[in-house]
Amino acid sequence: MLKQDIKKYIYQSLKRITKENNKWPIFCINEIPLNIQNDEKFGDYSTTIAFLVSKKLQKHPTEVAKILLDELQKNPPKQIIKIELAQNGFINFYLDKKFIQKELGKMSKTKSKFGSSKIGYKKKIIIDYSSPNIAKPMHVGHLRSTIIGEALANLYESLGYQVIRWNYLGDWGTQFGKLIAAYKLWGDKEKIEKSPISSLLNLYRKFHEQMKSNSELEQLGQTEFKKLEQGDKENRKLWLWFRKESIKDFKKIYNLLDIKFDLFIGESFFEQDLLPLISFLQKKKLTQKSKGATIIPLEKYDLPPALIQKSDEASLYLTRDLALAQYRFKKYKPAKILYVVGNEQDIHFKQVFTLAKIIFPKQETELAHIKFGLVLSEEKKKFSTREGELISLEQVINQAIKKSLIIIKKKKPEWSLSKQKKVAQVIALGSLKFNDLKSFRTADIVFDWNKMLDFSGDTSVYLQYTYARVNKILSKAKKIQNKNLKCNYQELNHPLEISLIKKLSEFPEVIELSAEKYAPNYLATYLLSLADLANKYYESVPILKSKNDLTLKARLNVQLILLENITNVLKKGLKVLGIQVLKEI
Ligand code: ARG
Repeated sequence: MLKQDIKKYIYQSLKRITKENNKWPIFCINEIPLNIQNDEKFGDYSTTIAFLVSKKLQKHPTEVAKILLDELQKNPPKQIIKIELAQNGFINFYLDKKFIQKELGKMSKTKSKFGSSKIGYKKKIIIDYSSPNIAKPMHVGHLRSTIIGEALANLYESLGYQVIRWNYLGDWGTQFGKLIAAYKLWGDKEKIEKSPISSLLNLYRKFHEQMKSNSELEQLGQTEFKKLEQGDKENRKLWLWFRKESIKDFKKIYNLLDIKFDLFIGESFFEQDLLPLISFLQKKKLTQKSKGATIIPLEKYDLPPALIQKSDEASLYLTRDLALAQYRFKKYKPAKILYVVGNEQDIHFKQVFTLAKIIFPKQETELAHIKFGLVLSEEKKKFSTREGELISLEQVINQAIKKSLIIIKKKKPEWSLSKQKKVAQVIALGSLKFNDLKSFRTADIVFDWNKMLDFSGDTSVYLQYTYARVNKILSKAKKIQNKNLKCNYQELNHPLEISLIKKLSEFPEVIELSAEKYAPNYLATYLLSLADLANKYYESVPILKSKNDLTLKARLNVQLILLENITNVLKKGLKVLGIQVLKEI
């Protein structure tokens, strides 16, 4: 942990200064900025901590940096050979190369565990993601939730948390009364079995269409829903069947995306808990009546009042979310619950979290709304079909696979069609996921297939390609390797080798930070910069030229270890993002 050691040292130095001058602020270790320098002129690492301190002290950064530098120079740890003040208050650290080189040995010993930790030991985290609504197609918003949620689940798993992947289906509400009524009028069992979601959607649409001219239908829908609520056998059976068929359809997409949930517990599950919850809220005198409806005012919190029960006593999404939170607190006692849902539900979750604090003041679970932006088309418009409807997810995925198959056919005409197809699928799904994860999630993302599938862009295919290239060099190198020669890490003295080791050693910290900030984009960007270095490396430094030269052969052994670690980290990092690697592209 090269970086961590330096950060610790800066932290301790700051603490010593604060002892004498209590105006100086102290940061926790992880707040101390420390960046890798890849140009030897600026040392190995540099910090901008003086800027942060100077803001609090209202002094010039250079002035602050000088004081800090004096302190830092007093008793540096053995791996630091020089500390210098650079322009404007930057402080640069020069390390003894030996320690950097040794770090590679440490890394490769931990092998596949490198990047994992036990921070989350014995802690649970519930991740509520994807959560589509039954009898309706999943849309690109659900796709974003699925991709981001899965990456977060993998990140927390790497940190040793027990992760509960929870698909909170939208499977309750008055719309199911309408759907049941529509089915009873015009339903066709076979059609639904063949393509459940689109047939159910058509039924629902037809019902709405006819409602315009037939006012009795509205009432009919309500009656059917009441019957469903009261446990009417036939209606329950129909609803269960719609639910089952919809999940079957959703699972096709999840299989394609290689995602498995632990639970499919949706809104309907909490129906029984709502009345007791509402009367509990009334007893606690939290609720008020407003035009026949039950509300909880939240103006103290700058939020609109929470509607708990409508005047016709129908329950609501919000109330169900409260019952859901209560259930999760009690049953799992999780350290965190993440709700991976679009920006547009911002107010909803602010209300839920505020209410959860008021109603269950003792619970310590951290609740977080993991928001994300829209998906835009190449023209930066909301993603939709020509008729202005939202495109279905299946269409999107199939489009991506088709596009990448065209590219692979051009690049690898010699491959069999089945191999081309397999690779095209891995590439397509990777680009879909990576395009979503590479920028901070609250930004809108753009679907521009040409950019997403660019082999030399900021794409997953670039990472997969780099992985495949390094892998190929590795297997060639293994053939000419002389295993009897001792591994001497000090042979790795090329600046790019030093840079690569420093970059690799950052991996565990990147995983931790991405999880902590709910920002898989940190990991995505990290992998891109690692790949950039790796590409530069094998393009400019001879690796396979050792022939019979013994010193070169000895060097090859450690180069091999370096390459192995590169492929390890690329593979593991991509896996955390939900993306597969390929042995060759
Ligand atoms: N089904 C909802 C939708 O499609 C998302 C549910 C999110 N999770 C929650 N606990 N509210 O918008």
